[in-house]
Amino acid sequence: MTTFTSLPAFNAQVPAKGMVHIDLGDRAYDIHIGANAFANPSLWQGLPSGQTAMIVSNETVAPLYLQQLTNAIAPHYTRVLSVVLPDGEAYKDWQHLQLIFDALLAHQADRKTVLFALGGGVVGDMTGFASACYMRGVPFVQVPTTLLSQVDSSVGGKTGVNHPLGKNMIGAFYQPERVICDLSVLSTLPARELSAGLAEVIKYGPIADMAFFDWLEANMASLRAGDVDVLAVAVQRSCEIKAWVVAQDEREAGLRAILNFGHTFGHAIEAGMGYGNWLHGEAVGCGMVMAAHLSQRLGFVDAAYVERLTALIAAAGLPTRGPLLHNAQSNTSDGIYLGHMRVDKKAEGGQVRFVLVHAGGRATMASADDALVREVLAATCQA
Ligand code: NAD
Ligand code: GLY
Repeated sequence: MTTFTSLPAFNAQVPAKGMVHIDLGDRAYDIHIGANAFANPSLWQGLPSGQTAMIVSNETVAPLYLQQLTNAIAPHYTRVLSVVLPDGEAYKDWQHLQLIFDALLAHQADRKTVLFALGGGVVGDMTGFASACYMRGVPFVQVPTTLLSQVDSSVGGKTGVNHPLGKNMIGAFYQPERVICDLSVLSTLPARELSAGLAEVIKYGPIADMAFFDWLEANMASLRAGDVDVLAVAVQRSCEIKAWVVAQDEREAGLRAILNFGHTFGHAIEAGMGYGNWLHGEAVGCGMVMAAHLSQRLGFVDAAYVERLTALIAAAGLPTRGPLLHNAQSNTSDGIYLGHMRVDKKAEGGQVRFVLVHAGGRATMASADDALVREVLAATCQA
């Protein structure tokens, strides 16, 4: 098990240890990483006991893994219920959150009920938020089934749903009891979704660990081919870095914002293109290229750094040039980007704040003049 107050050096020679501990006092928990998790009874022991477990999943993941998860946890609960949501970011809303509460109440689930999130980040965020709210809080377990959710969304306790006026605007910090990352389930993940997850893996290099970045450059082809041993190293290191950040700043008073490298530009792409057209990870990948250009213009990194990062993002199968945005008001593309960035959660008093990278694997937050942002957009958006 890895547990730490300072980030240990990356060592890919050491086989993935398979467990990362998030040190959050009475909210501490473990992230388990390995193959064939459903067939490993020890992973499902020692969770909060209760009569009822409820698995939340979606229409795509449930046919693949609901029965396996049900079998794995059945020895520990009198009844295992399930609720299957429609698949997609479009359903990550208040109305579909209500379906979870409807199912819990219809089955008279008590406050000892344990929820299990079986799916990607959408299911994980919704289940976590439902757990935070139901009877003012019931325990939940994350069983993330996308690469993105294994390296990012299932870890750290950010939960919530979208509002028509903003993504992830309604939510709570609420930590899971345990995270179980089964690398075997990634075999059914579409290649485009695997690439989207790689964006969130790549981000950990520039913000915290350039040795990991070097390793990603050398291993990108194996990661895209779904090599479980190589994925294990990537998931383990990503979770180590996320755990290290979250343990220092659980509620994003400062440091945790560095995990949003690429996300300010990325959110503008997602919102500007209409949610669902670009995957979150695709927008983050392209957003990291844009944020690196901005960092270069501010003198934090050189052109060679930007080229290296751009090449790795391209090698992950992600877009590196942003779309030109259009709207009914015929605003300029730059104006639309800036408009979306001003409603980003990191904005303060209408001023956009960016995560900027520095050579050597470090990130800071700063605002930037609109003129500089326009220069970046001119350099990185498709003509
Ligand atoms: P997702 O949950 O929509 O999953 C992507 C697609 O893959 C879906 O169609 C899903 O049904 C399918 N899928 C999932 N697992 C599968 C499997 N094993 N085999 C086949 N198909 C599978 O998307 P995502 O990329 O996992 O998560 C994106 C969401 O996560 C966004 O809503 C984003 O806001 C959120 N997010 C949250 C945090 C956080 O800290 N809470 C961090 C990053 C992203
Ligand atoms: N995904 C960013 C965070 O968890 O803070």
